[in-house]
Amino acid sequence: MTQSKSLKAESILPLPDQDALIQSEKLIKLIKASIHMKGGAIGFDEFMKLALYEPGLGYYSAGSRKFGADGDFVTAPELSPIFSQCLANQCEQILNELDTGTILELGAGTGAMARDILLELEKQNSLPDQYMILEISADLKQRQQCNLRETIPHLFDRVVWLDTLPKEEITGVILANEVLDSLPVKRFKKTSSGFKEMKIGLDDDQFVWVDSHAEGDLLKNIEELENDLSTLFPDNYISEVNTQLGKWLNSLKGILNKGVMIFIDYGYSAGEYYHPERMDGSLLCHYRHRVHSDPFYNVGLQDITCSVNFTAVADCADSIGFHVNGYTNQTYFLFGCGLEKLLANKNELDNKSQTQIAQQIQILTLPEEMGERFKVMALTTEYDNVLKGFAIMDQRVRL
Ligand SMILES: C[S@@+](CC[C@H](N)C(=O)[O-])C[C@H]1O[C@@H](n2cnc3c(N)ncnc32)[C@H](O)[C@@H]1O
Repeated sequence: MTQSKSLKAESILPLPDQDALIQSEKLIKLIKASIHMKGGAIGFDEFMKLALYEPGLGYYSAGSRKFGADGDFVTAPELSPIFSQCLANQCEQILNELDTGTILELGAGTGAMARDILLELEKQNSLPDQYMILEISADLKQRQQCNLRETIPHLFDRVVWLDTLPKEEITGVILANEVLDSLPVKRFKKTSSGFKEMKIGLDDDQFVWVDSHAEGDLLKNIEELENDLSTLFPDNYISEVNTQLGKWLNSLKGILNKGVMIFIDYGYSAGEYYHPERMDGSLLCHYRHRVHSDPFYNVGLQDITCSVNFTAVADCADSIGFHVNGYTNQTYFLFGCGLEKLLANKNELDNKSQTQIAQQIQILTLPEEMGERFKVMALTTEYDNVLKGFAIMDQRVRL
């Protein structure tokens, strides 16, 4: 997501329309019922799952615009086709070296990345056997199908939509842009009486944070973090952890028999993520290009995200047999994938288009925009080559 204004939720966020408020009310009722059913509180991961993915009501499952200028945020593929053209160059190297292959994109948004990757690979005579899209949101799946049928009718038959991971193993590339940050996380707090899980309960029928003793996978994860970071979290320190990451990666490992998985997302190494000064974690909500940190506001109408701990991704990947092939920031990755050459090809465009492209490139690559905040990680299985996206600068030592 590109940078948006940061606000307190109750200040001047635009008001949703009546239909949106009715949908939000239905979802709130459903979450409250779940809280009652679970004895008075649910984990933040459960809340996030319902708020984002409850069929027909959750933010990603229901029909709000989400992406683009009239939505809530802008992602890199929405901002500029050049982002996807660079990724296509990376895919071309892999598909070429594997001799054949499939591309599987997880969570494809509006389908912009699929469209621009396929068009670029067609130009390079390197189309994949199939372009699979795993989309858990029925609304987004429909939008992707309309978009691709209209913009690339001649390639439409190559695209296959899945609701779950493919039954058969694939050889090729798995791509996920801004998917990791959408996976549900647990929240924790360090207190003088130990670690607490910050759950969601109800007070006077309103959502409130409720502290309960951290236990199970969450406690194990936090204790491992303190151990690995060789430091104790200060009192009142709040942060997040994805306790399901290993399980999720393992399911992807199970379907990739040979090839490369590429994650692009905002995030840090564990040392930066859990820096003692980052006292309130990285939970953020996006609503109409405003950013705030109140997940109880406009439930189901706003995105909820957390930055990615790339050290955890690398550790989980390593423990299940993936090789961490490369890690770098978005700027180095895009330049490694031939950004400069792609730009040189745009020289014949008129001045207005060139200015527009220059602005897009600035947002994609300037450190204070997406360039440094966004990282790229490649996990490989049965594939040992140096990937072009990491050839300029590989920052695995930072993990
Ligand atoms: C912030 S959007 C990014 C969309 C798109 N990749 C882009 O860059 O514009 C997050 C996407 O991740 C998808 N998603 C979340 N959890 C997922 C999962 N477990 N498997 C596949 N997709 C998932 C959502 O449905 C949504 O399409």
